[in-house]
Amino acid sequence: MKIILLGAPGAGKGTQAELICKKLNIPQISTGNIIRAALKAGTPVGLKAKSFMDAGKLVPDEVVIEIIQERLAEADCKNGYILDGFPRTIPQAEALEKMGIAIDKVIDIVVDDAEITERLSGRRVCDKCGATFHIKNNPSTAGEKCDKCDGNLIIRKDDMPETVQDRLKTYHEQTEPLEGYYNNKGILHTIVGKGDISDITAHVFKALEV
Ligand code: AP5
Ligand code: MG
Repeated sequence: MKIILLGAPGAGKGTQAELICKKLNIPQISTGNIIRAALKAGTPVGLKAKSFMDAGKLVPDEVVIEIIQERLAEADCKNGYILDGFPRTIPQAEALEKMGIAIDKVIDIVVDDAEITERLSGRRVCDKCGATFHIKNNPSTAGEKCDKCDGNLIIRKDDMPETVQDRLKTYHEQTEPLEGYYNNKGILHTIVGKGDISDITAHVFKALEV
């Protein structure tokens, strides 16, 4: 199954993608995680993306499309995948189509801006395995350490309050139009993203019919 997770920054795409991955045994392809790894490794792509990411802006389409094209060509993608954070613009969605990729379902996780702001201020991520936590809503059972791999929990640079507001603006202007785009294709499933993580997962699985 080929799935797209759509939603504002902090809507819970990464959190739900980890759970869908486990259930369906397909990889989570997060362009955000790929770009952050490139940045950490100091590759040309990472350096190109840094200023955009730090400012809460989208990395140029041609850079992200190339990243995704390479990633989807890897062997673990042959039975399907979950796209988390891609596409984020209409040209990116059109690029997927040009690659001949037929998406089965688009899950749109909808959360209001006030809740997003609260969530991102409390988010912690593992700097080793990338697992996502929240200091109140989803704490690590190992305190300041990751309870999956014992890595350190850090605050993402783009989770600073000013950058979060810029990311939300970018989302409304450039990514939200994808709701109409996929609705017109009859593959959009809208899920209310507020509430217990496990309840939201249940709604996602229902939409995916798994
Ligand atoms: P990316 O890494 O994709 O960030 P994002 O879309 O801004 O989304 P987040 O990862 O912040 O949120 P999420 O929806 O995954 O939420 P999470 O599960 O963590 O992209 C970062 C940057 O990279 C972009 O700004 C851009 O510069 C660049 N980029 C990436 N892809 C690109 C593309 N295609 N084109 C161009 N540029 C691109 O949850 C958030 C928090 O809430 C966590 O703490 C979590 O524990 C908590 N939480 C989750 N669910 C719940 C719940 N139900 N109730 C309460 N708390 C919850
Ligand atoms: Mg994420």
